[in-house]
Amino acid sequence: MCTSGFLLFCMRRSFFHLKFVFRKSITSAYSPQRRRLPQNYTTMEKDQLILSIVKSEDFEEALDIFWKHFMPNEPVTGLIGCHTAVGYRIYNLDLLLREMLQSQTCFMAKDQKGNIIGIAFCTVILKKDDTTIHELPTRDEYLCQGWPVDFTHILLLLDHLGYHPNIMNDKKVNQLLDIFAVVVKPNYRRMGIATQLITKAITEAQLVDIPLVTVVCTSAFTQRCCAKLGFNAENTIFYKDWHYKNIKIFDNNKIDPVHPAAISYYKYI
Ligand SMILES: CC(C)(COP(=O)(O)OP(=O)(O)OC[C@H]1O[C@@H](n2cnc3c(N)ncnc32)[C@H](O)[C@@H]1OP(=O)(O)O)[C@@H](O)C(=O)NCCC(=O)NCCS
Repeated sequence: MCTSGFLLFCMRRSFFHLKFVFRKSITSAYSPQRRRLPQNYTTMEKDQLILSIVKSEDFEEALDIFWKHFMPNEPVTGLIGCHTAVGYRIYNLDLLLREMLQSQTCFMAKDQKGNIIGIAFCTVILKKDDTTIHELPTRDEYLCQGWPVDFTHILLLLDHLGYHPNIMNDKKVNQLLDIFAVVVKPNYRRMGIATQLITKAITEAQLVDIPLVTVVCTSAFTQRCCAKLGFNAENTIFYKDWHYKNIKIFDNNKIDPVHPAAISYYKYI
């Protein structure tokens, strides 16, 4: 999962959730850079992929893709044993994603037949005040907001990796674009689509003079994307070491060695 304490922000949207409309959805294609790839690795070429803002007629499909293909596959939801059966949705999270879609800060990749094959859910966050250091939200606060107990483990982890009020103070910016979640349909993975979606988010943020892009990557695959795209790593938490109030959260036996840690990144643009 990509992002951090911003979840609380979004719930307090009177201050933070900017109804920010990116430049009108101009479909564009991004040509992936040439790079050495494993033999079974193919890339979607420039004319095979259409990148654009998610439009209202695609909102429900975008959400379906998140619930069907993000939740069961994202490393941390698996670690906490979050319920991922078909049809299951976390009300608060679904609402949060809908708000991001309505703010027109989410990007999709479509194939030539018009099928959505990947989504980047993003949000623009505004600085609220000049307080130097903001306290992180607590589990009780999240529970009061209606988040399920198991999912609070994820929210607290994300907050510890990067809490947006503190990031904005630290980086001296008044707004940022946070890439909250990136998902690509299973049959289209490892073709460079996540990399292109993140690139699209950066490009659109640049167009509207947003100075900073942030993302928390819980997957080694998106971590590779960010490293390749010139993001700076800020904080790293190894899943085996993560404790909240002296309680170890993850079972070492369940940690996938491919995805050992979550890393927060930022990029000035
Ligand atoms: C993570 C995810 C979005 C990656 O999408 P993708 O389109 O396959 O990513 P890309 O093709 O751009 O690949 C990015 C990097 O990860 C590597 N990678 C991707 N899938 C891989 C795999 N199964 N095994 C090994 N490496 C892999 C790629 O090789 C690439 O690195 P490289 O450029 O150094 O070769 C996708 O796997 C997914 O939807 N997972 C479920 C949800 C999730 O975990 N989201 C991210 C949470 S932060």
